[in-house]
Amino acid sequence: MILGVPKEIYPGERRVGIVPAVIPNLKKAGLDVAVEAGAGILAGYPDAEYVSKGARLVGARADLFREADIIVQFLCHGANDKNGNEDLPLMKQGQILVGFLRPLGTIKTVQEIAERRVTSFSVELMPRTTRAQSMDALSSMATICGYKAVVLAADTLPRMFPMLTTAAGTIAPARVLIIGAGVAGLQAIATARRLGAVASAYDMRPAAKEQVQSLGGRFVELAIEAKDAQDARGYGTAQDESFYQKQRELLENTIAESDVVITAAVIPGKKSPVLVTKEMVQRMALGSVIVDLAAERGGNCELTKPDETVVAHGVTIIGEFNLAATVPYHASQLYARNVSAFLQYLVKDGKVQLDLKDEIIRETLVTQGGEVVNARVREFFSLPALQSAPAGGDA
Ligand SMILES: NC(=O)c1ccc[n+]([C@@H]2O[C@H](COP(=O)([O-])OP(=O)(O)OC[C@H]3O[C@@H](n4cnc5c(N)ncnc54)[C@H](O)[C@@H]3O)[C@@H](O)[C@H]2O)c1
Repeated sequence: MILGVPKEIYPGERRVGIVPAVIPNLKKAGLDVAVEAGAGILAGYPDAEYVSKGARLVGARADLFREADIIVQFLCHGANDKNGNEDLPLMKQGQILVGFLRPLGTIKTVQEIAERRVTSFSVELMPRTTRAQSMDALSSMATICGYKAVVLAADTLPRMFPMLTTAAGTIAPARVLIIGAGVAGLQAIATARRLGAVASAYDMRPAAKEQVQSLGGRFVELAIEAKDAQDARGYGTAQDESFYQKQRELLENTIAESDVVITAAVIPGKKSPVLVTKEMVQRMALGSVIVDLAAERGGNCELTKPDETVVAHGVTIIGEFNLAATVPYHASQLYARNVSAFLQYLVKDGKVQLDLKDEIIRETLVTQGGEVVNARVREFFSLPALQSAPAGGDA
């Protein structure tokens, strides 16, 4: 079987779906790897490294799609909302597609992939289980986003992060508040602490408290309890507006006292709650920084401009999307390991085994045989349940 790795085409995208280091493992699973020439260069992986690990270079993208049984991308049609549709005509019936598809974004893009009769797997739908941990690309990217958010904030803040005692006096440490202590938030705490800041964090899920504290962060307790704060998959759940109103009131003073606020409170497939209003921004000290990791879903800060950095009331608000893409070397390395773990799971003895009794396969499979077959996606978009279960077995 041939695994094809096209160059990413989203404008400015520097990551690549497969890095040379994972090729030997893919070969062991019976996969020959073909890479579009130049696909890894912007991430720091030259063509020669792919070749030295046993991959073959293909010059034309259309040829790569024609030859490949499996395509691995970062941003597939759907997740690439700028020009991802350019790949649609290149896809062929029965081809397997693995990557970010943004399956809860719009049903249109998912249906367009289905119409190509492609068997697609969305890495966003990977179950959050111990067994699937090595395949969890969302966690990998969130880890990088959390790290980069702090690095950006430290670079922008007119203060230093660590406490310093110098002959010219003492410098107080920066105070960093993280709202939403999921994977990104927890990495932001760890990074802020490494740079010497005092880090605190708040999350509506009670389970987050221990995780924040284990990283040396202070957990901000609010006198408010979320209803069913965590769903069965471990994600935070949407709350009603009166809950968010109360949160804003209770967070106001802590935010005003922070030099940096990193917001990462997102709900899968939903608009992010506004937790920092313009009045709260006004109360922050001049030069303070907000990094809004929820910007792509509307943002946790009322003044966030999607994919932009703005200064409002003397506070810099960073709403850049896709921070993981700004660390392309390691983002590609982690993603390639996640995807190759998934492919080694899916492909046995050079054959794709669509075992739909397996949770990992069933939950990530989005389209097959011309249909959107994923139960969660169908339910999310209120599509009627399928008459018959998708066909399993060899693909
Ligand atoms: N393999 C695994 O077992 C595995 C892998 C990854 C994550 N997880 C767990 O899944 C959970 C979610 O992780 P994630 O980072 O992917 O989720 P995520 O990106 O959805 O994180 C968003 C965070 O914001 C929080 N949040 C949402 N609305 C909020 C609000 N109004 N106020 C405060 N906080 C709010 C959520 O509780 C969550 O912690 C975590 O418990 C994580 O430990 C488990």
